[in-house]
Formats: sequence, structure tokens, C-alpha cells
Amino acid sequence: MAASQKLYLALFHVLLLSLFPLKAKSSARAQAEALLQWKSTLSFSPPPLSSWSRSNLNNLCEWTAVSCSSTSRTVSQINLRSLNITGTLAHFNFTPFTDLTRFDIQSNNVNGAIPSAIGSLSKLTHLDLSVNLFEGSIPVEISQLTELQYLSLYSNNLNGIIPFQLANLPKVRHLDLGSNYLENPDWSNFSMPSLEYLSFFLNELTAEFPHFITNCRNLTFLDLSLNKFTGQIPELVYTNLGKLEALNLYNNLFQGPLSSNISKLSNLKNISLQNNLLSGQIPESIGSISGLQIVELFSNSFQGNIPSSIGQLKHLEKIDLRMNALNSTIPPELGLCTNLTYLALADNQLSGELPLSLSNLSKIADMGLSENSLSEVGNLTMLQILDFNTNQLHGELPQTISNIASLTSINLFGNNLSGSIPSDFGKYMPSLAIPAELGNLSMLFMLNLSNNHLTGEVPQSLTSLKGLESLDFSDNKLTGNISKELGSYEKLSSLDLSRNNLAGEIPFELGNLNSLRLSSFDFSYNELTGPLPSGRVFKNASARSFAGNSGLCGEGGGLSQCPTTDSSKSKDNKKFLIGVIVPVCGLLVIATIFAVLLCFRKTKLLDEEAKIANNELSARTQAYLAEPLNSITISKLRSFQK
Ligand SMILES: *[C@@H]1O[C@H](CO)[C@@H](O)[C@H](O)[C@H]1NC(C)=O
Ligand SMILES: *[C@@H]1O[C@H](CO)[C@@H](O)[C@H](O)[C@H]1NC(C)=O
Ligand SMILES: *[C@@H]1O[C@H](CO)[C@@H](O)[C@H](O)[C@H]1NC(C)=O
Ligand SMILES: *[C@@H]1O[C@H](CO)[C@@H](O)[C@H](O)[C@H]1NC(C)=O
Ligand SMILES: *[C@@H]1O[C@H](CO)[C@@H](O)[C@H](O)[C@H]1NC(C)=O
Ligand SMILES: *[C@@H]1O[C@H](CO)[C@@H](O)[C@H](O)[C@H]1NC(C)=O
Ligand SMILES: *[C@@H]1O[C@H](CO)[C@@H](O)[C@H](O)[C@H]1NC(C)=O
Ligand SMILES: *[C@@H]1O[C@H](CO)[C@@H](O)[C@H](O)[C@H]1NC(C)=O
Ligand SMILES: *[C@@H]1O[C@H](CO)[C@@H](O)[C@H](O)[C@H]1NC(C)=O
Ligand SMILES: *[C@@H]1O[C@H](CO)[C@@H](O)[C@H](O)[C@H]1NC(C)=O
Ligand SMILES: *[C@@H]1O[C@H](CO)[C@@H](O)[C@H](O)[C@H]1NC(C)=O
Ligand SMILES: *[C@@H]1O[C@H](CO)[C@@H](O)[C@H](O)[C@H]1NC(C)=O
Repeated sequence: MAASQKLYLALFHVLLLSLFPLKAKSSARAQAEALLQWKSTLSFSPPPLSSWSRSNLNNLCEWTAVSCSSTSRTVSQINLRSLNITGTLAHFNFTPFTDLTRFDIQSNNVNGAIPSAIGSLSKLTHLDLSVNLFEGSIPVEISQLTELQYLSLYSNNLNGIIPFQLANLPKVRHLDLGSNYLENPDWSNFSMPSLEYLSFFLNELTAEFPHFITNCRNLTFLDLSLNKFTGQIPELVYTNLGKLEALNLYNNLFQGPLSSNISKLSNLKNISLQNNLLSGQIPESIGSISGLQIVELFSNSFQGNIPSSIGQLKHLEKIDLRMNALNSTIPPELGLCTNLTYLALADNQLSGELPLSLSNLSKIADMGLSENSLSEVGNLTMLQILDFNTNQLHGELPQTISNIASLTSINLFGNNLSGSIPSDFGKYMPSLAIPAELGNLSMLFMLNLSNNHLTGEVPQSLTSLKGLESLDFSDNKLTGNISKELGSYEKLSSLDLSRNNLAGEIPFELGNLNSLRLSSFDFSYNELTGPLPSGRVFKNASARSFAGNSGLCGEGGGLSQCPTTDSSKSKDNKKFLIGVIVPVCGLLVIATIFAVLLCFRKTKLLDEEAKIANNELSARTQAYLAEPLNSITISKLRSFQK
């Protein structure tokens, strides 16, 4: 080879080598210009983007949120997550970004349309526009992004029909179109077999279960919840989607049975099918899906047994079967699911006893058992909340209930209990208050809360219990004043407020009570003061009824005469604290479910009275007209003092 030829060749090489960086330089510059231009259109450009500046034009690869490919020194990734960017993509010039593989603007305030120009990012593998304010429809041009593996448009305001061309994206593994207002495409020519994660959560989809999904054999996560999908769950879901770890179909209109082939979903951890129209039995085979952690089947029409095989599910943390038509007993095997933290069986037709084995479920605080036909409480020493309302507990309140040291709230409303309250009931509950909800029981004629360690004031809501004939609050630690509304309890025949810490005067309205009817009353051992009300009721009262209230005075009742002048009142000057700020102790009260054990006298409740009942609670009491007895209400209000 001649020397001159060698020289030319060398020169040519030099020329070539210098051309590449030049080209890179020019496209990097175009990219920097494009980013600056876009930044200038934003209505809020976040402080971290201060490195995006004209004076910094040559350091594009050092700009915040920008990554370059090491070979070409041009932008390969834009990661603008959670920067509070406010604006649109309308003026984003995508053309120079020929090497971009990742565009992520998740969690900002970007609004307007998704520009169709985004389809020019031909090397894009990861596109995340989620949690923004995009509106309009999904541009068909997205289907030109054939390298895409991850596409999330989750949580925007997108509407219109999902473009069927999305099925052209052969490599997409993660597709999330959730939380938008999207409508059905013609699913029939959809096919995305590469999908591993698919969510259409919360959209306006109305079709039958899209068939293409049953061919996505690599799916591990499927969420169609909160749409209006109809029809049956296809058998192929169970037989083809064996890799599924989460199956979320809740809040749709799916109907029909759950196939026993569900056991083929052997990798399933979570299954949430609540709020559908599913029916039939819960398949026994569910017990062989050994990794199940969460099972939510509530609010369907499942009937028959709770499968005892559930006892095999050692990882089970939550099972919610409420609001179905299950009519078995509770299988003792449930007690083997010792990792359970949540068990909800309320509102079924379960019967029998609570199995003793459930006392091994030491992580459960609240066992939702209301509205069944259960007849025994069992020995559940770990419960905090016992909601046994509307069941068929009958006879005496079980002594074991007193052993439930952890109990903070108990609801025994709507049972058929009789006999007396166990003497040590409430021994673990030092500060119970009377729940305001008691006032809802408008048909109550007998309320006996005697000797229950009750504290706090009598709730104002009880003034609506105008039909009360017998009221016994004795032996508690109730405080506050006696309500003057008591004077309008026209049917009252027995009133016992003794041995509390009630203060103030006995309201003069009580003097209006029907003296013929009111045959017994007891105000003794409180902190009551002032004169007895005039009126016939108290005229011939015995001293016993008022004993232990050193401030009471008046005629009758063995009390001392009241001072004749009124001057004591005017002398009672209020003292003001000046310049002293009295810190108010915040008393944060978390109310828990109220607890009522109701007992009615059969004969007292006429059908007509029952018809008048207009709220749910009283309607239920009607269904459980029971034997004579007292009623009690216990509910613990946990209080925290700052
Ligand atoms: C977020 O952007 C808005 C403008 O859209 C602005 O008013 C607000 O101050 C920004 N918040 C923060 C934390 O930067
Ligand atoms: C999908 O169906 C539409 C008509 O509904 C048709 O125009 C289109 O070619 C089909 N696409 C594929 C990929 O089959
Ligand atoms: C499913 O996953 C396997 C293993 O990761 C992979 O080899 C296969 O190509 C995937 N199937 C599809 C259709 O993407
Ligand atoms: C199952 O649900 C739990 C709690 O909601 C969640 O933390 C977990 O990621 C879910 N598992 C799957 C596979 O979706
Ligand atoms: C369960 O799947 C098998 C095929 O794997 C099928 O033959 C059978 O009919 C399915 N069972 C039900 C109840 O559909
Ligand atoms: C449960 O309900 C089904 C269907 O309604 C009925 O056939 C079955 O006898 C019931 N089982 C029990 C234990 O009541
Ligand atoms: C029980 O639950 C805890 C946390 O909720 C978890 O760490 C543990 O692995 C679970 N045990 C089983 C057997 O699943
Ligand atoms: C509670 O669990 C222990 C250990 O598994 C077992 O021996 C015991 O019988 C269980 N108790 C009940 C009442 O089932
Ligand atoms: C109930 O539990 C207590 C405390 O764990 C225990 O001493 C008692 O024997 C249990 N009663 C029954 C009937 O199992
Ligand atoms: C309530 O229990 C008594 C026996 O304690 C029984 O005679 C009565 O029929 C029961 N009432 C209801 C509605 O179950
Ligand atoms: C029950 O009473 C509470 C408090 O008094 C009230 O807020 C609630 O609305 C009532 N519920 C019904 C069903 O009447
Ligand atoms: C209320 O119940 C107690 C026992 O708990 C009883 O001693 C008392 O007589 C009852 N009061 C009325 C008015 O029936």
C-alpha cells in the first residue's frame, strides 16, 4: 500500500471518528434545547430542575432526572417522579429523543392530552404516566412503541375506548390502565400473551370476562375490580393462569359458581371476589392453595359450608365471608389458621357453637360474628371486640364472658338472653360509658345498667327513650346532672339512680312525673344538691331514697329545710381566673361498638308497636322478642389523656 494511500485512509478514519461525536453533540444539544423549551412552558417548574438551564447546556448528562447512555452521551432515561411538575406535555418535543428507553413522570400534576407524538420514542421500554391529570383518550400511537415492556397510565382522567391496537405491543409485561374512565374495546382481537401484570381496576368496563386474558399464561397479577364486568369467570382462568398470585375481581357483576379447579391456581396468595353475584359452594379444594394469605368473598351469594379444608391454610391472615348465605357450623379447623388477624363471618346463617379451637387464634381482635344463629360464645380469651349481635344466644349470659380480659366492646344486641349478668362481668373493663346508640332503641321499656362500673355522663340521646317504664342505673360511677327530660317519661314506674356520682339539683320537671305510676325511686348516695322538686311525687318519699346526698334539702324525704332566702345565690360570685391559662386536657375518646343485651317481656310488645318501629335496630328487637329480663349495655370507650 502506498504511503499516500495510508495517509488518506488515516485521514478518513480521523474524519469518521470526529463525525460521530459531532452528531452526538448536535443531538444532545437538540435534546437539551427540547427539555429547556418544555420547562419554559410549565406553570410550576420544581426547584430540583434548576440544573436544567441554558448556561448548563453542555452538561446535559448531569442534569437532574436525566440519564445518558454511556456510549452515545445522549439521553436514555428521563425520571421525573414526584416533582410536583405542573403543566402539559403538549410542548414536549419528543423527536430528538431517539435513544430514550425510559420516560417516567409518575405522580405529578401533568394535565391535558397524552400527545400522539409520544409514539416517536421508538426505543422506549418503560413508560409511566401514572398518577397525573391526563385527560382525553389513549392515543393509538402508543401502539407504535413496540419495544415497550412497562406501560402505566394508572390514575388519570383518561376516557374513551381502549385502543385495540395496544395488542400490537408484543413485549408488554406490565399494563396498568387502572383508575380512569376507560370503556371497552372490541376485546375479541386483543392478545397480549407476554403480560405478567394486568390492571383495569376502576374503569367503565362492561363486557364479559375478556377472553384474551385466559391466554396470558405468565400473569401473576390480575385486577379487574370496580368495573361492571358480567357473566361467569371462565374455567380457563383456573386452568391456564397457574402463575397468578393475586386475583382481584371485586365489585363487578360476575355470577355463577367458583370452580373446584380453583385449586389449580396453586400460587395464589390473595383472592378478592367480594361484591359480586357469585353463588354455589365455596369449593373445598380452596384448602389446597397453600400460600393463600387473603381471602375476600364477602357480599356474594355463597351457600352451604365453610370448607373445613381452610384449616390447612397456615399462611392465612384475613378471611372475610360476611354477607353470604353460608349455613353450616363454624368448622373447628378454622382454629388451626393461627396466623389469622381478621376473621369475619357476620351476616350468614351459621349455627351452632363457636368452636373452642378459635381461642387459639390469638392474633384476632375482632371476630365479626353478628347476624348468624350462633348459640354459644365459647372461651375466647383474646377477643377485644365481641360482636355477637343478632344471634341465638339464649339463656344466661355465659360465665366465660367474664374471662375475656381483653374485651373492650361487646355487642349482644338481638339475642335471647335471660337470667342475671355474671357478677364479675366487666371486672376487666374499668371505664365503660353508656353508648349514645342506646337512644336508638325506641321501643325499650326496661333498661337496667345496674352495677357495671359505668362512668361518664348519661348520654343526651337516652332522652328519646320515652317509653321506659323501668330505669336502673344504680351502682355505677356516672357523673353529671340528672336530665330534666326524665320528667317527660310518662310511663316511668321505677327509677333507680342510686350510688353514682351525679351532681346538681333534681330537676323540678321530675315533680311532674305521674305519681300514681311511679311507685319506686332512689336517688341515694350521689352528690345531689338543692331543694327537692315540689309536686306530689316526692311529698311522702322515704328518707332512704335521698340518703347520702348532703346538699339536698326540702320538705319530705327526711331532709332538712331549705334556707328561706335566695341570697345565697347572689353571694355566689363567680371567681375569674385572670392571666391564668388553664390547659385543657384533651380527652381523646375512641368509641367502639356499642353493646346491648336486650331483654323484653313478650307480653309487653304488641305487634302494632313493632310496626311503628322505623329504624333497623328496633326492627331487629322485634324479631327477638324474648323472655322477661333486664337489659344491659356495655361498651368500653377507651380514653387517652394527654
Ligand atoms: C406544587 O405546585 C403548585 C403549583 O401547581 C404550587 O402552588 C405548590 O407550591 C407546589 N408545591 C410544592 C411543595 O412545591
Ligand atoms: C381488530 O378488529 C378491527 C375491527 O374491529 C380490525 O379493523 C383490526 O384489523 C383488528 N386488528 C387485529 C390486530 O386483528
Ligand atoms: C413466559 O415466561 C417465560 C419464563 O419467563 C418466558 O420464557 C416466556 O417467553 C414467557 N411467555 C411469553 C408469551 O412472553
Ligand atoms: C396481597 O395483599 C396484601 C395486603 O393487601 C399485599 O400487601 C400483597 O402485596 C398482596 N399480594 C399480591 C401478590 O398481590
Ligand atoms: C376442571 O378442569 C378440567 C380440565 O383441566 C376440566 O375437564 C373440568 O371439567 C374442570 N372442572 C370443572 C368443574 O369445570
Ligand atoms: C344449607 O342450605 C342448603 C341450600 O339452601 C340446604 O340444602 C342445606 O340443607 C342447608 N344446610 C343446613 C345445615 O341447614
Ligand atoms: C404470619 O404473619 C406474619 C406477619 O403477618 C408473617 O411474617 C409470617 O411469615 C406468617 N406466618 C406464616 C406461617 O405465614
Ligand atoms: C390450640 O393449639 C394447640 C397447639 O396447636 C393445641 O394443642 C390445642 O389443642 C389447641 N386448642 C384448641 C382448643 O383447639
Ligand atoms: C377457658 O379458658 C381458660 C383460660 O385459658 C381456661 O382456664 C379454661 O379451662 C377454659 N375453659 C374451657 C371450658 O375450655
Ligand atoms: C328464647 O329462649 C326461651 C328459653 O330460654 C325460649 O323458650 C324462647 O322460644 C326463645 N325465643 C326465641 C325467639 O328464640
Ligand atoms: C343511633 O344513635 C346514634 C347516636 O345517638 C346516631 O348517630 C345514629 O344515627 C343512630 N343510628 C340509627 C340506626 O338510628
Ligand atoms: C337490675 O339488675 C340487677 C341485677 O343485675 C337487679 O338486682 C335489679 O333488681 C334490677 N333492677 C330492676 C329495676 O329490675
